[in-house]
Amino acid sequence: MTTYNLALIGFGGVNRALAELIRDEPERFASLGFELRVVAITDLAFGSLVQSEGIDLAAVLAMPRGSSFEKLPGGSVVPRNEELIKNCPADIVVEATFTNPLTGEPAISHAKWALESGKHVVTTNKGPVALCGQELRSLAAANGVCFEYEGAVMSGTPVMRMAHRMLGGLELTSVQGILNGTSNYVLGRMETGLGLDQAIAEAQGLGYAEADPTADIGGSDVRLKVAILANELLGANIRPGDVDTTGIQDITIDDVTRARAEGLRWKLVGEARRADDGQVLASVRPMKLSPEHPLAGISGATNALSFTTDLLGPVTVSGPGAGRVETAYALISDIIAVDEFIKAGVSA
Ligand SMILES: NC(=O)c1ccc[n+]([C@@H]2O[C@H](COP(=O)([O-])OP(=O)(O)OC[C@H]3O[C@@H](n4cnc5c(N)ncnc54)[C@H](OP(=O)(O)O)[C@@H]3O)[C@@H](O)[C@H]2O)c1
Repeated sequence: MTTYNLALIGFGGVNRALAELIRDEPERFASLGFELRVVAITDLAFGSLVQSEGIDLAAVLAMPRGSSFEKLPGGSVVPRNEELIKNCPADIVVEATFTNPLTGEPAISHAKWALESGKHVVTTNKGPVALCGQELRSLAAANGVCFEYEGAVMSGTPVMRMAHRMLGGLELTSVQGILNGTSNYVLGRMETGLGLDQAIAEAQGLGYAEADPTADIGGSDVRLKVAILANELLGANIRPGDVDTTGIQDITIDDVTRARAEGLRWKLVGEARRADDGQVLASVRPMKLSPEHPLAGISGATNALSFTTDLLGPVTVSGPGAGRVETAYALISDIIAVDEFIKAGVSA
């Protein structure tokens, strides 16, 4: 059985969920034809740890936040990211640090160090994909490795891979999506009579919304995802700043009530479409959808993406857009893609 050595960059919700799956469910990976061994972890809180024979995941997962890898063999208190990524014996670097929507750093540097040292990169981090995707894809190709990022849009729900693998032979003219669970949950609760602030507070109480909900409500989270989809699926070359963005912060309960009376539902829609002149136009804006629209029935924190195709018309996928285990699954699907790439190279 093939063994892939992983380096986990960031040891928060998503990478811990992946580590738990590796610890608890080796048969899941064995059924895919490989086993996963974590040989390096680096995190701001814990520091860095490299053990080429494989880290005892049960032991590190049991360490409380606030403790450090310093006392473990191969451990240090400071996160030595560059040295670790370049020199550790990993085949695949799993980037799951925080999303920086303005610079993409430090994740862009993490990905570059890995790709330049011949390591595959899988990531759930929107920042490097939205801001530097083309360059990182080229760097991966130049080094004969993969750069995979299914989790950057809609978590583990496989919208990008589905478009590439299942919609072959179709012309894709646009994508429209509900790509932020928090704003969709909030709009749904406003339909039941809650004001915007009350609905946001409820979403925070349920763990859907961040303490600072600005990125969710103001549309900047969806903007990053629309830029990724426009570039990935419609061949555009745009940056997040090119996406015309309006959030739901100015939608009032009166707007929602009036729309309901007309049989319509407000949704925050991220869209990328090819205009007649070939240009790709991208936007994020609240829209009143009629019941026939493929996204009108998407309620709660669920996400959905509708592909407009020439021969099939709209094809719509809905599923989770967040969650630590759901997003860890995106990493697994990326690792499967790396495995296929490696095995195709071996058999060629
Ligand atoms: N959770 C989801 O539902 C979801 C869905 C889709 C995409 N994503 C994306 O996936 C990524 C990980 O999400 P998450 O929920 O696991 O976030 P998280 O719980 O905040 O974990 C991120 C971890 O990275 C660490 N970190 C930050 N900067 C670092 C650095 N320079 N070097 C090493 N470690 C660093 C953080 O340490 P500190 O805590 O000490 O800062 C934290 O432990 C994010 O980019 C997120 O946007 C998440």
